[in-house]
This record gives sequence, C-alpha cells and structure tokens, in this order.
Amino acid sequence: MSNSHEELYKELLERLKEISIIGACEGLLGWDERTYMPRAGSKSRADQISYLAGMAHKKFTDPKIGEILSELEKSPLMNDPLSDSAVNIRETRYSYDKSVKIPQKLVEEISHTTTMAQGIWAEARKESNYPKFLPWLEKIIKLELDLAGCLGYKKEAYDALLDNYEPGATHESVGKVFEDFRKELVDLAAAIMNSKKRADISILEREYPVDRQAMFGQSGSAAIGFDFHAGRLDVTTHPFCSGIAPGDTRITTRYNPHHFGQAFFGILHESGHGIYDQGLDDAHHGTPRGNSVSLGIHESQSRMWENLVGRSKAFWKHFFPRAQQMFPEALSNVKFEDFYFAINDVRPSFIRVEADEVTYNLHILLRFEIEFAFLKGDLAVKDIPGAWNEKFKKYFGLMPKNDAEGCLQDVHWSAGYIGYFPTYTLGNLYSAQFFAKAKEEIKDLEHQYEIGKYDTLKTWLNKNIHTHGKRYRAENLVQVVTGKPLSHKPLMIYLKTKYGELYGV
Ligand code: CO
Repeated sequence: MSNSHEELYKELLERLKEISIIGACEGLLGWDERTYMPRAGSKSRADQISYLAGMAHKKFTDPKIGEILSELEKSPLMNDPLSDSAVNIRETRYSYDKSVKIPQKLVEEISHTTTMAQGIWAEARKESNYPKFLPWLEKIIKLELDLAGCLGYKKEAYDALLDNYEPGATHESVGKVFEDFRKELVDLAAAIMNSKKRADISILEREYPVDRQAMFGQSGSAAIGFDFHAGRLDVTTHPFCSGIAPGDTRITTRYNPHHFGQAFFGILHESGHGIYDQGLDDAHHGTPRGNSVSLGIHESQSRMWENLVGRSKAFWKHFFPRAQQMFPEALSNVKFEDFYFAINDVRPSFIRVEADEVTYNLHILLRFEIEFAFLKGDLAVKDIPGAWNEKFKKYFGLMPKNDAEGCLQDVHWSAGYIGYFPTYTLGNLYSAQFFAKAKEEIKDLEHQYEIGKYDTLKTWLNKNIHTHGKRYRAENLVQVVTGKPLSHKPLMIYLKTKYGELYGV
C-alpha cells in the first residue's frame, strides 16, 4: 500500500461525509413525511427513503472501508486514543463490523416482519387481543435472537441488542444500577400514593388556545437556547427531533387545546434534543467525532430541560407570570404553588407515555425485566400478559384491566426494538448525575433561572457533553464529566427532595 496514512484517513473521512449527506437527505424526507407530506405520498416516500438507505448501506459496507480501517489501525493516528482520528477510526470500525456481520437476507426479513407486525399490533391493541399479536411477537423474538447471534456477545443475547442503542452497555451493567434504583423508587412511589396531599390538575385542563400555546412554547424553547436561526418547530402526531445537518435542526410537537402541559413540556423535551444536535462540533460533521454518543445520552439532554429545569420552581418563578399573561382566562386566578404542584403531579397510571417523573421509571424497569426474560427463554411469550400484570401490581399497586393498557400499549416490540426501553431510564439517570455536577460548578444556577437566564447551563452542556461527539462512550462520559461512575443516587436524591417537599413524605 503506497498511500500515506494521512491520505487514507482523508479518504475515510470523505467517504463518511458522503454517506452522511445521503443520511441528511433521508432525514429531511422523513421529517417531511411526518409533518407536511400529503398522505397519498406515503408509497412513493417509502420507495425514496429505502432507496437512499440502501445506497448508504452499500457505501458503508464497501470492503474498501474495511481495508482502510485495517491500515489505519496500525498507524500512529491511533497513538492517542482520545484524538479525533483515533475516535473516528475506533467508532467507524465498531459500526462497520456490525453492518457487515448482518446478512442482507436477515435485514430484509426483520424489516418485512416488523412492518407487518406493527399493523397487526395496532389492531391487537385496539381490540385488546393479545393472542392476535402473539405469533408475530414470537417470530420477532426469533429474528432478534438470530440478529444477536450474528452480532455476537459475551454473556447474554440481550447485550448484543442493547448495544445497538446504548453502545457498550450490558444487561449486567445496566441491571445493577436499575436494581438499586428500583428498591428505593418503589418505596418512594408507595409513600407518595399514600400521601393525603393531591394536586388540582384540573387547572391544566382548562382552555388553552393552540395559537397562544405555540407562541408560548416557542418562547420557552428559544429562552433555554434552541436556536431558531438554525432550527424550526412544526406540528406532528408523534413528536420527535431531527438533527438533519449543521444549521438545520427540526423539532416537532402536538397541541391539545384542553391541556397546558403536553405541548409545552414536549417542546422543552424536543428542544433539549435539538440543543444537543446544535451543540455538536460542525467541523466534525458526518464523522463519529461530530455525532451524538447514544440514545441514553441524547435522552439525558431532553429530560434535563424538560424536567430538571422545566418543572422546577425557579424556572416557573420567571415563566408563570408570563403564562398568566398569555392565558389569563385559565390562569389569572391560579396561585403559583397550585400551578407548580399540578405540573408535578404524581399518580400511578397504566400508560407509560402519560407517566410522571417518579412512576415513569417503574414503567421502564418492568419492561426491561420482561424483555430480558422472554429473550432468554425464561418467560414464554404466551405468558407475557400474566407476568406483566403481576409486576404491575407489585410496583404500582394496580391491575391493568386489559392488555391494551398492559403489555400491548407500546409499539417497540412490534417494531423489533428489543433492548431499547432501558435507554429512557438511563437518560433520566444520566440527566440527574450531569445536572448535580452542573449545579455544583455553577453556584447560582437556580437564581439564574429565576431571572430567565439559561445560557450558563447550555454553555456548560456544550462544553462538557455536546462538543465531544463520540469521543467517549456513555459510561466513560459520565465518569469524565462527573468524576463518578453511573449511579442511581443523584436521581433518587433529586426525586426524594422535590417530591418529599410536595407530598410531605
Ligand atoms: Co426523547
């Protein structure tokens, strides 16, 4: 090989950037599909997106990339493991190996089966008919086990799947933290449920005109630091954030004229994802060094702005008078304390996506335990509803009336997303641990919220998390930023302090 290492590295980056341009086009088509595309366009759009996805896959699995990586791995570019070049080579190798290990036939079978299964699942959920979904779930689990087999794993097949969403995480590493967390969380949830104090949530269910919600949401998003010169906010059915390319990050929401919080906190959540995407280093765009760490770290950014900042007393010291001005009919006679309690209402509910900050994690822990058990073969697929309900009763003190509000409620398993759920709780755990550190380093953070100043926290996140791209894996990033490994303690302390005060527990 006559090329110098520098030239080969340059070629690698060029190839990666080309692939990322295809990805950006795919992302834009996907955003359009979920916002403005006429419904009749869905067949053509599916063709366009799968064409681009196939092209990107073909380019990324080109054996030439494997050859370049093998050369570069022996080069001085790897000397400093945290250098830009070493990070890009390491992370490209990681994704490349995964991509080439999965046979095209299996990719197609999973894609075909899960597309069908999602339709069946939607019907089964509507009818609360688990037996209808059962054979499909069995088939998906078999395919996911095949996938895990192709990817390879040391201990558990589950690890290979979880690794797709949270690189480096294993059932054991996550399970240990979750187990410690669950013990304390179940007790806190039970204490809150037994408390006599109850928020009046009806004040959030008054009339909140959609046009004014849009203005108020946009002002909240801009205040916390989402850059509207490099992004936009649109309406969709299932809100998401799409970081398309530098200078173009798109967030979405949905409005309910009879609910204040759904859109507002949803906008803060998606803005948190957007602020992360906008904070990535443009100079490294298209390479791992300019990309986000994992789903869990991404979720930590959205949860931080939505909950730790957005549901705090200090935040509303600034925003509540503004909300009263914007929605005088609904809020002019409401006391600050009552509003603050209402937006932090905790009560057990069957549906995960409607859950509060405390019980939300119990929904995830339950799913994590169930999906691990059925993948391992310890839980027969036909016995999932029974196992679900039993755990639900144990954690929430309630029994789902039917499977639609039990094990059939989420789309994930029908889409083949096994090992995805833990990233939600990991996001909450990371967010609390990062936030505790930020508060330690920025002494008057809460006072800054009270006066509507959020750029100090945003700059802290830019510097400590966003700008590193994939330099660190999630596990290391937590250690580097906070000086400690991931622990349930910061989140537990936060929840106990906040809800202890609200519920007198
Ligand atoms: Co999110």
